[in-house]
Amino acid sequence: MKPQNSPPDFVGYGNLVNFMEERSLYALEGDIIEIGAFMGGGTVKLAEFAGKHGKTVHVVDIFEPSLDQTMSVSGMSACDVYEAFLEGHSMWEVYQEATRQYDNVITVREDSKKVSFDEKQKFVFGFVDGCHEESYVNNDFYVIWPHLVSGGVLGFHDFEYDDWPEVTRAAKKIIEKHKDEISEMVEIEGVYEIRSLLVVKK
Ligand SMILES: C[S@@+](CC[C@H](N)C(=O)[O-])C[C@H]1O[C@@H](n2cnc3c(N)ncnc32)[C@H](O)[C@@H]1O
Repeated sequence: MKPQNSPPDFVGYGNLVNFMEERSLYALEGDIIEIGAFMGGGTVKLAEFAGKHGKTVHVVDIFEPSLDQTMSVSGMSACDVYEAFLEGHSMWEVYQEATRQYDNVITVREDSKKVSFDEKQKFVFGFVDGCHEESYVNNDFYVIWPHLVSGGVLGFHDFEYDDWPEVTRAAKKIIEKHKDEISEMVEIEGVYEIRSLLVVKK
């Protein structure tokens, strides 16, 4: 299974997977979670990595462009951005087609504020790239963090990216609040020169 004809991703998930490999995150007990999958181009890269190590990828996304009207500084809504890339296609259908062959992907098609996991669920890696409003970034952190194992990593996409300032505002507040639980922070370059901030849990 190779993600060859899959849609693009808008993060640079290859760099995230390299980081997981370098840090041997596969050796820890737990799954992967992605909040904000869009067309699934990143999901399939996570699923390839996860599959090699007997892990599952849990995906949370609402998969409906019109439900995200967050305004960017440049004046485009998130909905407009999604629709421009979808070129008339359905987000849900594109995602389903991209991930169809991966039996280690569990998709939760839901508003992330309505999502929670059983207390037994463990994650080794979580990625926050859903709704870019501060309250959602904050919510999405808490969907993942209590389940993240020691040595596990949580990433925020769009860190210090001017178009979505609420992401950085939320991330900085979270980091300050949880600094005693964090052992390291690493910034990773991605596509469109947008960075992700990765936070390693003590
Ligand atoms: C920037 S896109 C994710 C891009 C993806 N990480 C990639 O690189 O291909 C943000 C995603 O968050 C989803 N989203 C927006 N609001 C949401 C909400 N309230 N709950 C869950 N997902 C949401 C959107 O449907 C969209 O797919």
